[in-house]
Amino acid sequence: MRILITGADGMVARAAAAHCRSLGDTVSALARKDLDITNRAAVSALMRRGDFAAVINCAAYTDVDGAESDPESCFAVNSVAVSNLASAAAESGCAFVTISTDYVFDGEKEGFYTQDDAPNPLGFYARSKLEGERLAAAVYPASVIVRTGWIFGRGGTNFLSVMHKLLAEGKRIKAISDAFGTPTFAADLAARLRELSEVSRAGIYHVVNSGSGTSYLGFAQMVCEKGGFDPALIEAVSDDDLNRPAPRPRNSRLACLCSGGVGLRPLPDWEDAIERFLSAESLRKL
Ligand SMILES: NC(=O)c1ccc[n+]([C@@H]2O[C@H](COP(=O)([O-])OP(=O)(O)OC[C@H]3O[C@@H](n4cnc5c(N)ncnc54)[C@H](OP(=O)(O)O)[C@@H]3O)[C@@H](O)[C@H]2O)c1
Repeated sequence: MRILITGADGMVARAAAAHCRSLGDTVSALARKDLDITNRAAVSALMRRGDFAAVINCAAYTDVDGAESDPESCFAVNSVAVSNLASAAAESGCAFVTISTDYVFDGEKEGFYTQDDAPNPLGFYARSKLEGERLAAAVYPASVIVRTGWIFGRGGTNFLSVMHKLLAEGKRIKAISDAFGTPTFAADLAARLRELSEVSRAGIYHVVNSGSGTSYLGFAQMVCEKGGFDPALIEAVSDDDLNRPAPRPRNSRLACLCSGGVGLRPLPDWEDAIERFLSAESLRKL
């Protein structure tokens, strides 16, 4: 397949590009300096000459707290630019897969959020992502929208992706014990993004690793167990203790109602995913 991947310097984009290349795809993985997705003319020109079978949009404004003081930049990338890409994909008739977030939900529900639950985003980042979903589906009804959350993986700079390094160095970490999500390994997400771009059946998909989900504290404890780190290095804190600018859902665990219907099996369990992540990271150090 000939695939365009946007936001190529990001964690998920890198995993997606590596996965697609491993399958023999011809991949144009373009970082912001090569394709700024807010530049509508550049997006359309590229799509007209690119002859892509699929576009996987991994570019996003991902600074959840920063969005509270700069909502314009956030909406420009996560809403308007997604619409630009969807519109260019519609013109060329290629598959369009774009990533959204578990943060579209307010976290008040007990248990797992499915596509039947009504979104109610709490902060600007979350609102911009929901608006991106809405615009993509309106501009190009064939769009595939992938909600995911709590991503960890190679090259990631978020807490879930770096905590093993801190623990290996004997550093103390603070982990939130009262916020719950479904951890998702970037490599597993990448494989699913590729499958969805091939299936190209319109809709909203919830893509996360299997299992009952966990808190940040539970994730950190599992990293200690699988990596042989000292769990005494973890300090449990409450979300409220961190006083972060953006509100976040207390529960954003996701389950999917429609992946099975298009022939896709659940992703592996998150505990297994941590094991594969840690073993790939330690092999890299050898
Ligand atoms: N990480 C998570 O836990 C999580 C959870 C739920 C959903 N998601 C979603 O998953 C997707 C991938 O996230 P990620 O974790 O891989 O994020 P990431 O590592 O922050 O990567 C996002 C990439 O998008 C690029 N970008 C920003 N503005 C752009 C623009 N105007 N044009 C082109 N590229 C631009 C960024 O480039 P710069 O470095 O130059 O800014 C960055 O390389 C996003 O849609 C995100 O909202 C992530």
